[in-house]
Amino acid sequence: MSYLIGVDIGTSGTKTVLFDIEGNSIASATFEYPLYQPRLGWAEQDPDDWWEASAAGIRAVIDKSGVNPKDIKGVGLSGQMHGLVLLDADGKPLRKSIIWCDQRTERECEEMTEKIGAERIIEITSNPALTGFTASKILWVRNNEPEIYAKAAKILLPKDYIRYKLTGEFATEVSDGSGMQLMDIKNRTWSDEVLEKLDIDKFLLAKMYESCEVTGEVTSAAAEKTGLAAGTIVVGGAGDQAACAVGNGIVKTGVVSSTIGTSGVVFAHMDNVQIDKHGRVHTFCHAVPDKWHVMGVTQGAGLSLKWFRDNFCLEEMRTAEGMGVDPYYIMDKQAERIPAGCEGLIYLPYLMGERTPHLDANARGVFFGLSAAHGKYDMLRAVMEGVAYSLRDCMEIVREMGIDTTEVRASGGGGKSKLWRQMQADMFGCNINTINSSEGGALGVAILAGVGAGIYKSVPDGCDATIKVVSSMEPIAENSKVYDKYYPVYQNIYSGLKEQFRKIAK
Ligand code: XUL
Repeated sequence: MSYLIGVDIGTSGTKTVLFDIEGNSIASATFEYPLYQPRLGWAEQDPDDWWEASAAGIRAVIDKSGVNPKDIKGVGLSGQMHGLVLLDADGKPLRKSIIWCDQRTERECEEMTEKIGAERIIEITSNPALTGFTASKILWVRNNEPEIYAKAAKILLPKDYIRYKLTGEFATEVSDGSGMQLMDIKNRTWSDEVLEKLDIDKFLLAKMYESCEVTGEVTSAAAEKTGLAAGTIVVGGAGDQAACAVGNGIVKTGVVSSTIGTSGVVFAHMDNVQIDKHGRVHTFCHAVPDKWHVMGVTQGAGLSLKWFRDNFCLEEMRTAEGMGVDPYYIMDKQAERIPAGCEGLIYLPYLMGERTPHLDANARGVFFGLSAAHGKYDMLRAVMEGVAYSLRDCMEIVREMGIDTTEVRASGGGGKSKLWRQMQADMFGCNINTINSSEGGALGVAILAGVGAGIYKSVPDGCDATIKVVSSMEPIAENSKVYDKYYPVYQNIYSGLKEQFRKIAK
């Protein structure tokens, strides 16, 4: 028998899954680690926590499954995108990683726009300078910690640090590399123009691969720590969104995913590269060779519901514990009893600022239209609807770009909620499907490892061998009508408040 391993280095923990070549999950293990927030708006993690969690996860799935490590034909790495890992000449992290949700780099974004030009930066990297992306984080360290920057010998992304620990290679791949804002997205290479204008030495960057290419082999030291066989191949892998898309079969036109994790993402495959000239959605290289993808990102999706749960649903959490069910199940049941549209109560999910469509780090969450008749469960349903409206914002731009969205597949923790899937079907006006696997990113990069190992002929072949649609939910016409009425109101609330958000941020 042959097996594949997918390692997904997330923000709350690293999930490692061992799959057979039909995509069945044989063993899985998750190890968590802390997030450091030394100041408001800052977010850091220790790269060695990721390594310990990855190594422990690999060892755990091998031990649990009892498979012979020699039967593991390849490892794929997925991970949180955009994080900055700076290594010294001995390959040791010089500081904690500044990760994707850190917002400290507003000044560096201005510096980037000034040096590259507002339009040119979108033309090359497909985005305006963004605080979340890696380039501005590099400039921040150079501007604020010059003694650390002077010692930097390599710049890696989170999952690429794990690759370095496993194989000794400094490598990355096109899908995650796209989120550094140093790549020429159309040509799938580092952009000499951007590097020159920002004065970043290309030598600091990793070697660029396509996502299913073999980037190295497990060293004997890593084999000893993880239980893998020395010489096992490690493929490029993918940034978490592209990995999840492969794990959902989003590898051809017409099939789009809508994912509700901490953030929310609408993700579409593109055969030819197209860039939104306003930079409201990200066009990145896909994990399928020579293909691209576009994604709209809403910052506070699952995060909004978790925030509501933790602050207002202690009773439901206690009941759920007593019943041995997930608190979100009880919350769903309560929200189901409220009519669609919440009788005019609308929530904006901008707890962490917003990317698509506003690109506004200052935006904040809002409940609009509260009346004395509304109660806690109206607010709960409004939170779920607000997240779905924000995903509709993403979907509208994807459709505006002329991308076919015939089939939408729901995924992520939020995709498990029937109610949230129904809201999406009603708001998008199309069927929402689910697939046989919920392993997302881990399955996606295991498929890439299977292509690198020669088990599947191509990424779409790997998806065909492992992924099947198992359920489909149709829009309810009455609900669609209600949501269509409220959607323009939802959109206008932000426009009305934009200036006030800016004042509050000051
Ligand atoms: C993608 C993004 C997130 C992070 C964290 O642009 O910011 O998906 O990778 O999950």
